[in-house]
Amino acid sequence: MKNKQVVLESRPQGAVTPGNFRLVESEIGKPGAGEVLVKNEWLSLDPYMRGRMSDAKSYAKHVEIGEVMVGQTVGEVVESQDPAFRPGDKVLTPLGWQLAGVAKAADLVKIDATRVPASYYLGILGMPGITAWFGLNEIGQPKPGDTLVVSAASGAVGSVVGQLGKIAGCRVVGIAGGKAKCDYIVNELGFDAVVDYKAGNFDADLRAAVPKGVDVYFENVGGAILDAMLGRMRVFSRIVVCGLIAEYSATEPYGYTRLRSILVNRIKMQGMIVFDWKDRYGEAVKGIAAHLAAGRLKYRESIVEGLENAPNGLIGLLKGENFGKQLVRL
Ligand SMILES: NC(=O)c1ccc[n+]([C@@H]2O[C@H](COP(=O)([O-])OP(=O)(O)OC[C@H]3O[C@@H](n4cnc5c(N)ncnc54)[C@H](OP(=O)(O)O)[C@@H]3O)[C@@H](O)[C@H]2O)c1
Repeated sequence: MKNKQVVLESRPQGAVTPGNFRLVESEIGKPGAGEVLVKNEWLSLDPYMRGRMSDAKSYAKHVEIGEVMVGQTVGEVVESQDPAFRPGDKVLTPLGWQLAGVAKAADLVKIDATRVPASYYLGILGMPGITAWFGLNEIGQPKPGDTLVVSAASGAVGSVVGQLGKIAGCRVVGIAGGKAKCDYIVNELGFDAVVDYKAGNFDADLRAAVPKGVDVYFENVGGAILDAMLGRMRVFSRIVVCGLIAEYSATEPYGYTRLRSILVNRIKMQGMIVFDWKDRYGEAVKGIAAHLAAGRLKYRESIVEGLENAPNGLIGLLKGENFGKQLVRL
């Protein structure tokens, strides 16, 4: 069997383009001792991949030109040279943008796909859900009655943050782009209000949605939205800086105008990277799984078909064309 892989062809200058990727065919290796051959079924597409395509200094190593694009997959074990895995096991892998690959057994996590679809381990029961759990609970520290605002609110992280905020007793307001996402956030996810930043009246709409100000802001976007939010924060409020997607492909830094609010309102603003909670991932997965099983969390996926369409899937995600967790069915 031939493998197909998507490798990084060139580093993007500004927005990612299809030319930054190349589809290649290769041989599939044989697993050695302590290794496992996995056939990938789902590839996760995530905003952090934009950062890995760049060689600017960051919290994780970048992808080299010619290397397989980084990413998590869910797949099935085909052949195992490790006693912990057997053919047929469903696993979470770091194999990246390819149809199959050989991984070290120590890098694989066995998943239970009998009660939820296997793809959930790339989304609500995976890295994005875990990010929402620790970012909100540990940094945001929501209390009943707080006003919580989350941006990219219909997405993989944001939708979980907002629903967990409702469970915690907050008044939850989402920020999202376009009517379909905004309707979903209020009607399906049960947020109290939503602001459509594409409707053309953002500052006034935001002010109307949070008349008493904001206690916790979960930031996924950055740029003009963060600048506007700084003007709405209450005294002793918290901002969780989880992502700045509006700035990932920018060629100039955004010029923030309201940093004074951090001082005047004694805002606590903290960056978060999910890896910092690596030792406690199980806690988040257990908590989210319990809410899912009880019907308290809703979840939606956005699916691109085929490895060859993964580049366009990522390009679309970075422009907000996804509606829910972005996946590639391999
Ligand atoms: N720190 C961590 O450990 C960690 C872990 C996971 C994710 N993240 C971050 O969390 C954020 C959300 O990630 P996700 O995986 O859940 O993705 P997602 O929200 O499912 O998809 C990205 C969303 O971002 C919004 N967006 C894109 N460009 C935008 C722009 N210029 N202005 C405003 N909104 C824009 C779009 O929603 P709209 O159409 O509503 O704008 C798009 O649907 C990202 O910033 C990501 O980097 C951080």
